[in-house]
Amino acid sequence: MSSSKLSSIVILLTAFALLQTCFGDDGPLFHFCSNSGNFTAHSPYEFNLKRLISLLNYKTPPTGFGLGSVGTVQSQTAYGLALCRGDVSASDCKTCVSEASSEIRKLCPHNKGAIIWYDNCMYKYLDTDFFHQIDETNKFYMWNLKNVSDPTTFNYKTKELLSQLAKEASVNPKMFATGEKKLGESETLYGLTQCTRDLSSIDCKKCLDEAISELPNCCDGKEGGRVVGGSCNLRYEIYPFVKQ
Ligand SMILES: *[C@@H]1O[C@H](CO)[C@@H](O)[C@H](O)[C@H]1NC(C)=O
Ligand SMILES: *[C@@H]1O[C@H](CO)[C@@H](O)[C@H](O)[C@H]1NC(C)=O
Repeated sequence: MSSSKLSSIVILLTAFALLQTCFGDDGPLFHFCSNSGNFTAHSPYEFNLKRLISLLNYKTPPTGFGLGSVGTVQSQTAYGLALCRGDVSASDCKTCVSEASSEIRKLCPHNKGAIIWYDNCMYKYLDTDFFHQIDETNKFYMWNLKNVSDPTTFNYKTKELLSQLAKEASVNPKMFATGEKKLGESETLYGLTQCTRDLSSIDCKKCLDEAISELPNCCDGKEGGRVVGGSCNLRYEIYPFVKQ
């Protein structure tokens, strides 16, 4: 990605992060419509995509992860996955996945591929098989606008906690980990890491380590931050945000 493109995304996201802090609601965090091509109404692809969406809505909530494809003919087959955050209940997962699937169809009505993220889930589909590989294309950052007082120590401890959680997520059957670390007398740092479960343990770790290495691009010395991609995501805050 060119640096000018990157900086425009960062600027866009700064405005977005401001909106988040003002209105924090349950709406989508972000989405991308893929440029892999369009489909037309009543085409075989649309038929397969609709069946895929029903399949994922049904398959995802019990375990928090759903993966599937519908179709037999190449270029008319729809591949998709849905992932709920590891601490989300089956009923909140169901609500999020069903909301995500209808919202993404409105936001990207003709695109063969699309991805959308919420606090509680992620939803993605495409007309090619993207399973078992790290998504290097779709990524965004979010951060808290507040600066910490000692960025050097804070950044170091954040990296240390998230690296530990990257290891833990990669060997966890749910590919999810949360944890915390003392930051001094009274403050605590809270972290979360998660991968889509089609990744191998090695690729999950690789995806999260890459995300950690991107923290300086968004979140240097910030009280909270997220690096969110199509295959893995991480988050840290100085307040507890994981559901019990
Ligand atoms: C897909 O549809 C959009 C919106 O109608 C259009 O702007 C775009 O050029 C189309 N892309 C292709 C590859 O046909
Ligand atoms: C945080 O630090 C950056 C860089 O030093 C500065 O531009 C920004 O205004 C600070 N933000 C706040 C909320 O103080």
